[in-house]
Amino acid sequence: MMTTQQQYKLIENTSFTKQSDGKVHVRCQRENHVVNFMVNENIMEFMQAFSAYQTVAQVASKLEGKGFNSEQVVSFSEKVFSSPLSHCFKQGLHYTHPKKILTRFGFKLKDVFRNSRLVAVVSAVDSNNEEVVLRVVKAPRDDKNFARQESRLNFEYQLLSELREIENVIDAYKLEDDSYVALAYKYINGTSLKDFVNRRHTIKQRVELALEIVRTFRAIHEKGFLHGDIHPSNILIDDSGKPTVIDFDCAYKIGGPVADRIGGVPHFFPPENTNESWFDQSKSIPISYYGELYQIGLVVYYCLTGKLLFDKPGYSELMEAISNNSFEVFNQTPEGEYIEENILEFIKQCVSKSPEKRELACNKLDEALAEMLGVNYKNYLNECRVELT
Ligand SMILES: Nc1ncnc2c1ncn2[C@@H]1O[C@H](COP(=O)(O)OP(=O)(O)O)[C@@H](O)[C@H]1O
Ligand SMILES: [Mg+2]
Repeated sequence: MMTTQQQYKLIENTSFTKQSDGKVHVRCQRENHVVNFMVNENIMEFMQAFSAYQTVAQVASKLEGKGFNSEQVVSFSEKVFSSPLSHCFKQGLHYTHPKKILTRFGFKLKDVFRNSRLVAVVSAVDSNNEEVVLRVVKAPRDDKNFARQESRLNFEYQLLSELREIENVIDAYKLEDDSYVALAYKYINGTSLKDFVNRRHTIKQRVELALEIVRTFRAIHEKGFLHGDIHPSNILIDDSGKPTVIDFDCAYKIGGPVADRIGGVPHFFPPENTNESWFDQSKSIPISYYGELYQIGLVVYYCLTGKLLFDKPGYSELMEAISNNSFEVFNQTPEGEYIEENILEFIKQCVSKSPEKRELACNKLDEALAEMLGVNYKNYLNECRVELT
């Protein structure tokens, strides 16, 4: 049986379309890939409750008043969620299992973070028991899908080499033999920003982290790249509190060709991207430089308050809220400390619907965070100037 956490991961950002035959078409995002399936109408109510609440207990209490009991919740959840999961799993079955590829490279599989059809992201240990994370192409060299995956991996590898001097960007090295390729990343022992914000921190710790994250993304921009997929799960925090930006799978060079895979999670879509269908990548345009400035504003807000600026249970409601730019700003950290007014003001400007306003706001936000900590901002600003063509 799956854990509550997995269930929530599977169905966050779910959309429901009722069809004329009464069945409901469900699309949900699981990390970076999308799952489509059909359900009966009665299950839909249950699933919508899951979209709005995070744990089985919370869902159960919501559904109780509607005649469901918690046993039914568990049994429904298995029914609904085992289908798309096994579907994802079967899709990749005819490609090589990552375990086998890792053995060829001298690693032992430890944990699987993502196992899609052609690519798996896993953690593993080497012969010295050192842990690494690997992005493994499951298709072998003679498969028709290999070349595209390899070129994507090569691009990411080269990009990470160019970003190597930025301290908070993940380090990677390439592995290959006559059949397989993989990228190995330094293992970050810690949590994602998503888990980090929900623990107890002082406002100073939150501001320090936010500042370091803003600086890292601005430094990536300064080097001429866009990350392409900024959201809390792609920022890892180690045990000393230091953030590391990971997942450059959707990154691209400013002015260069865009990645063939478009990233982004709905809560972090900039308003100019809300007309797109995140489940149909062919209809989407990648996040722009101004879009990333907007996302930086959201991440800072999330870091300080533990909240999403735009949060609605349904996908279309969420897109509407983002595109209308309607939000409520909380002025306290989860621990009840007050956030300075000017910081909140710059966050609001970063998420402005007008992209041009965002650059100044993002720099000012950075400055305000630094000032609050008594860090010398001027030196940094001179080093980090983005030239746009
Ligand atoms: N270097 C790393 N150290 C620790 N965990 C990692 C590392 N890289 C990735 N992970 C874990 O694997 C998950 C998926 O990796 P990611 O690079 O974001 O791939 P994708 O989102 O394309 O599946 C991350 O959300 C994180 O939990
Ligand atoms: Mg990711």
